[in-house]
Amino acid sequence: MARSLDPIDDPQQIRQADAGLLARALAAQRECTLRLFDAVRAALGPQLEIRYGDELNPPLWELGHVGWFEEFWIARNPERLRGTAARLEAARAAPLLAGADALYNSSHVPHARRWHLDLPSAKRTLDTLARVRERTLALLAAGGADDDALYFFRLALMHEAMHVEADTMIAQVLALDVRGALADTGPAAAAVGGELDIPAAALTVGSDDAGFHFDNEFGTHQVDVPALRIDSAPVTWGAYLPFIAAGGYDEPRWWSSAGWAWRRHALPSGLPRYVARGDDGSLRRASFDTWTAIDPAQPAVNLSQHEAQAWCAWAGRRLPTEFEWLHARTHAGEAFAWGQVWEWTASPFGPWPGFRPHPYRDYSQPWFDGRPVLKGGSFATPACMQHPRYRNFFSAGRNDVFAGFRSCAL
Ligand code: AVJ
Ligand code: FE
Repeated sequence: MARSLDPIDDPQQIRQADAGLLARALAAQRECTLRLFDAVRAALGPQLEIRYGDELNPPLWELGHVGWFEEFWIARNPERLRGTAARLEAARAAPLLAGADALYNSSHVPHARRWHLDLPSAKRTLDTLARVRERTLALLAAGGADDDALYFFRLALMHEAMHVEADTMIAQVLALDVRGALADTGPAAAAVGGELDIPAAALTVGSDDAGFHFDNEFGTHQVDVPALRIDSAPVTWGAYLPFIAAGGYDEPRWWSSAGWAWRRHALPSGLPRYVARGDDGSLRRASFDTWTAIDPAQPAVNLSQHEAQAWCAWAGRRLPTEFEWLHARTHAGEAFAWGQVWEWTASPFGPWPGFRPHPYRDYSQPWFDGRPVLKGGSFATPACMQHPRYRNFFSAGRNDVFAGFRSCAL
């Protein structure tokens, strides 16, 4: 996919950004956060109340959590210049907002409690966010210029970017009209099609170059990738819908046992999430608050890994591993279209050799439980997160993620 030359939109340059570029990127990311929050507030009304959901967070909690995270790891962190060697346990200064740790620390505030907290008002939350940011920018300008000194500033930027996508997912779950706040409101059709023949390779994976890395990207090792035939773009609705038309959602034989149990429980209608049959029998799809005819050229999205695997079983295909995905992308270059939907892979999210958790220990390690890796990025993923080496991870049954898949020949 063609990328802008502006370093602010280049994920590799962002991972190696100096203080000046980081300050610009933080400001741009904050604009997106605030624009989306305003749109959610306009759609929900000033109380900002939402129903409980396992895949949701209250919008006010999300907003406060982003500011809390930034302050916890930057202004309040006496070891911030040590980067990945900083200790989580280092004694911290009090937060600007008294009691913020008991409200917004995602490692300690259980999910269901987030609906029953006495959260500060939107105005107070926004004000705290702005004051935290002032301190962040002052420390960024005064701090060191090496990768350690910049680590937490880069992390805070990427964390905020992840929450912008999470908020976009929440808006889709709740059918909120937030289109005006988004750069892209859905996945675009790929410019390429067909399959790619990729030769075998001894692939070296695991980061060792300069710049920012997530802890789960470390551990240089070799992986033998056999020759493969892989889709040049994620599976489209045009390729996915015939599986539904053939009765695939009612045929246990295409599904794993976990997948079939999921399908019966999560999709009683026998159709993918956000898909419904219109009066004329045609399938329509909800994008935020709007229903439209499904465009067969667009990548299928909001599918669980169970659905991706069931389609593969029906079509006589399989999901790529994360290493096959990486190798094919590197090898094929522009002929490998990605970045409009996250892509489920066959690889479990696990540690690579010598894994060592970074100071934010709960980022990766708690989730090494067999859930799959997703690669790529979606239309809702901020550019700074669309890095080919990024390993996203969600449990196989999540279909609120803007995820689809590509397939390989058996
Ligand atoms: C990496 C996207 C799976 O949303 O659970 C945000 C990102 N971690 N705050 C998630 C994250 C902590 C994480 N994912
Ligand atoms: Fe978070």
